[in-house]
Formats: sequence, structure tokens, C-alpha cells
Amino acid sequence: MFRNYENCGDNVELLYKNMYKNQTLKKKMIIKSKLKFDKKYKIKDVFDLLNKVVDSSDPDADFPQIFHGYQTAQAIKDNYFESNRLKDIKIMDLFTNEEWFLLDNEYKILYDTTIDKFYGNIECWDWLILIGLIHDLGKVLVLEEFGGYDEWFSVGDIYPLGCNFSKSNIYYDKKYHKLCCDDNETIGLGMYKKGCGFDNVEMTFSHDYYFAEVLKKSNTKLPEEAIYIVQYHSFYAWHSPRNNIRGYVEFSSKKDWNMLPMLKLFQKADLYSKKDDLNDRFDYELFDNLIDKYIGEFIQM
Ligand SMILES: [Fe+2]
Ligand SMILES: [Fe+2]
Repeated sequence: MFRNYENCGDNVELLYKNMYKNQTLKKKMIIKSKLKFDKKYKIKDVFDLLNKVVDSSDPDADFPQIFHGYQTAQAIKDNYFESNRLKDIKIMDLFTNEEWFLLDNEYKILYDTTIDKFYGNIECWDWLILIGLIHDLGKVLVLEEFGGYDEWFSVGDIYPLGCNFSKSNIYYDKKYHKLCCDDNETIGLGMYKKGCGFDNVEMTFSHDYYFAEVLKKSNTKLPEEAIYIVQYHSFYAWHSPRNNIRGYVEFSSKKDWNMLPMLKLFQKADLYSKKDDLNDRFDYELFDNLIDKYIGEFIQM
């Protein structure tokens, strides 16, 4: 069982308690305003730096962090690219039965197709493997040279600030979000408009937001979809409903619904890559070629 929070010890719960208490809108805005992205790093050096990070929000993390990047990339290649399997993946199969049942008819109709037909505008998909490799590089935020941020500003699930806290967030029942000095219970939509889209919502500060910004500032050749995955891959309250509630639907836009199957496709590989049976049978040559093709040697951090 992956992402099993039942027996994962107190560390994970404590991390979320701290996150719900300390992630305020004001603090996020201050952190955001201080980010400069004025240092140039060799992307391969960032791989080494990531290995210094320990992520206590990750219930399955027994390996160095970059190992998870290699595993995710390899799982994407094996599961989606061998014999061109991507084209046979039905969007419906990315949802659990319960989740599918609860979707509005409008989306059941929209999603009644395969991944490659739904995203007919995408001709070449190989960047998805690269995103598997690099999606967690932003976790270096906890290291001194990247600001030494507390873990609750770097890892774990993300969620919108400045509005009500959704019941679909992990540990909702523990009511830790009540410890936050932001009003997150009685303001409803808060500072946002219905359907404004997640790109117009202030999410918690995390490795997702940070590394998506890094990629934007680094002038990569990655498509918009790739950066969207990096930015929202930890938004579990939205992409993977808990207790049959898809959180924050009120802010979702047409773009977010269009990107949901892509997030789910990615998330399946992100999760299931944490099996040890992959060992270290990694296609390093392919990964290097993809870095060259889409990013080059350096990124701005
Ligand atoms: Fe992540
Ligand atoms: Fe991951």
C-alpha cells in the first residue's frame, strides 16, 4: 500500500499540524516577494543537493530523494511509453469507481475518451518522463543555501490560502487548521471569485510552487502542461478526493478540469514508482537526453 498514512508514525501528522498552523496568507506573500531566482545552478548539482533532504511528510521514503525521481521517470517510461501504451489509456480508468460516480455528467461526457485523443494538441509526450525525474527538486528549499525553510513550507500536500479550508485535506478531522490565525472557516470563497482558476489562487508555499517558478524563470522548452504538473502535483485535495469530496471545485476553471486527467496520469506514476521492484534499472541516457532537449545544463534558482 502506498501513501499509507495509517501507520506512518507521528512525524507526518506533526508536519501537517505545523503546516496548518503556520502557513498563513501573509507569510506566503512575504516568502514569495523574497524569491529572486538569481542563482544559476547546474541541474545535475541540484540532484546531489536534493539527496541531502529528508522529507518526513513522505510515508514511504526509505531512499535518497533523487532515487524517487529516477523511479518516477522510469515508471512513466515503462507504463506509458512502452508499445505506445499512452494512446490506449482511458481517462475513466484514472479515476476510482467512487470518484467517477460522483463526477458531474458534464465531466463524464468530457472525459469519455483516451488520453491521447483528449490532449490531441500534444504531439510529443517525452517531457512527461523528464517531469517524473525533476518534479520534486524544489524540496531543496529546506537546505540553508535555498533559504533553509521549515519543512511545512516545503513538502507535503498543498491547498489554497485566503478561503475556507476544505474537508478533503488530510487530517481535516483533527481540526489543526483551527490553530491558524487566518480565518479559514467562515470566509467561504474569501478573496477569490467562483471559477477563477487555480492559477489565480494563492496556494500554500511549497516545493511545487517554487520549482514551477524555477522552470518558468529558466526559459525551458517545456510545454505549459509540464509546468502545470509540477505546480499542482501535491494538490491532493483536488486531484485525489478524500471522503468522497473533491476540494476547492468552486475555484476550478475550464483549464483546471482540462488538466485534471494529466495530473492523475502523473500522480499514478509518482505514487506507484515507490515499489522497490524497479531497483536501479534506470535509463540514464534517455534522462540526460531529455534534460538537454528541454532544459539544458543550467537552471535559475
Ligand atoms: Fe512532490
Ligand atoms: Fe514525488
